Amino acid sequence: MPALRCDGQSVPVEAGESLLEALLKAGVPLPHSCRAGACQSCLVKVTAGEPPAGSQVGLRPALAQQGFVLGCLARPEHDLEISTDAAAAASIRGTIVGVTPLSRDVVLVSISPSEPLSYRAGQFLTVLRDDGLARSYSIASLPGSPYLDFHVRVLPGGRMSQWFASAPVGSDVALRGPNGECFYDPAAVDMPLVLAGTGTGLAPLWAVLHDALRHGHRGPIDLLHGARDPEGLYLVDALEAVAGTHPNVSYSPCVLTGSVERTTVGALDDVVFGRYSNLAGHQVFLCGDPTLVQKMKRRAFLAGARLADIHADAFVTAPKPGVAS
Ligand SMILES: Cc1cc2nc3c(=O)[nH]c(=O)nc-3n(C[C@H](O)[C@H](O)[C@H](O)COP(=O)(O)OP(=O)(O)OC[C@H]3O[C@@H](n4cnc5c(N)ncnc54)[C@H](O)[C@@H]3O)c2cc1C
Ligand code: FES
Repeated sequence: MPALRCDGQSVPVEAGESLLEALLKAGVPLPHSCRAGACQSCLVKVTAGEPPAGSQVGLRPALAQQGFVLGCLARPEHDLEISTDAAAAASIRGTIVGVTPLSRDVVLVSISPSEPLSYRAGQFLTVLRDDGLARSYSIASLPGSPYLDFHVRVLPGGRMSQWFASAPVGSDVALRGPNGECFYDPAAVDMPLVLAGTGTGLAPLWAVLHDALRHGHRGPIDLLHGARDPEGLYLVDALEAVAGTHPNVSYSPCVLTGSVERTTVGALDDVVFGRYSNLAGHQVFLCGDPTLVQKMKRRAFLAGARLADIHADAFVTAPKPGVAS
C-alpha cells in the first residue's frame, strides 16, 4: 500500500482509492464538488513523489508543472506527499456586490475581487465559501470589468446556489482559478463561431460572444441558447439587440416545450446539427448540461470540427450527498 502524507500528517489510503476519498475519510476537509475532474475545486500539490497517472487532466500547464493534481482523479500507486495549503494560497478573496434576478431561477451574482484577476472571457472560477463549500462558475464578464459576473441557476435544495440567491451583499468568498478552455482566440477572427448551450451554459457563451465582438471578429457568430420552456430563457432582449446591431451575429433561442415568437421548438442538439451538417473550419463552443455537452461534442467532431476547435465546459454538479462517485 502506498504511504500518503498530507500537510505533514500520515493519511491511510487504500488500493484504488482517490486522494479526495482518503482525505475526506481521514477528516481532512478538502474542498470538492463534481468528483469527476470537471470543477477543479479539489486541487492539491504534490510535494514529493510523482503525480499519479491521469491526475492532471484539464489542468493549466503552469499548474501541472508546479505539481498540482486533482484530488478526485489522483489514485496513488507510489508513496506521495501532498500539500493542501499551496492550493489554498493560490486563492484570492472576493466580496459579493450584487445579486440580481435574470429569470425565474437564474440570478446574476457580481463579485468584486480583492485584487485584479487575469482571466479569459468564458473561463471558470471555483468559488469557496468560508465553511469550505466549493462550486465552480463560468465568468460572464469580460477581463477588465470591475466585477466578476456569474449567472447562477438556483437549484431546489442547492447548497451554494440557494445561498447565492439570498446572500447578503458584502458576503466574502474565496476565488480560485481561472480554469477552462472555453474562451475566444483572437487568431480565429475570420472563422465562423457556433456557440451552443443550455440554461446557465449561456454565461460563458455570452462572454465569448462579447469578447469576439470586442476583438472585431469578422466571421459569422451563431449563438443558440436552449431551455426547457420559454421562461427558462434569459437575456433574450439583450441578445436580440446584439444580433440586431451586428450583421455577423445571429441568435436563436430554442425551447423543448411551449412556443413564443422567434423561438425554435426542439432539442438544442437537433437544432444545431439540423443547421450544421458540416462543421469543418468552425470554432464550436458548447456549455451547460453535461450529458448534452458530451453528446454535442461527439456530434460536432463527427460533423468535421477539429477537436482543437471544440471548446466545451460541462457543468457537472456534485453527486447527491451519500451517493458514491
Ligand atoms: C466547469 C463548471 C462550470 C460551471 N458553471 C456554472 C455556471 O456558470 N452557472 C451555474 O449555475 N452552474 C455552473 N456550474 C455548476 C455549479 O458548479 C454547481 O454545481 C451548481 O450551482 C449547483 O450547486 P449547488 O451547491 O447549488 O447544488 P448542490 O447542493 O451541489 O446540489 C446539486 C444537486 O442538484 C441536482 N441537480 C442537478 N441539476 C439539477 C436540476 N437541473 N434540477 C434539480 N436538481 C438538479 C444534482 O443531482 C445535485 O445532487 C458549473 C460547473 C462546472 C463544473
Ligand atoms: S475536479 Fe475534483 S471534485 Fe471536481
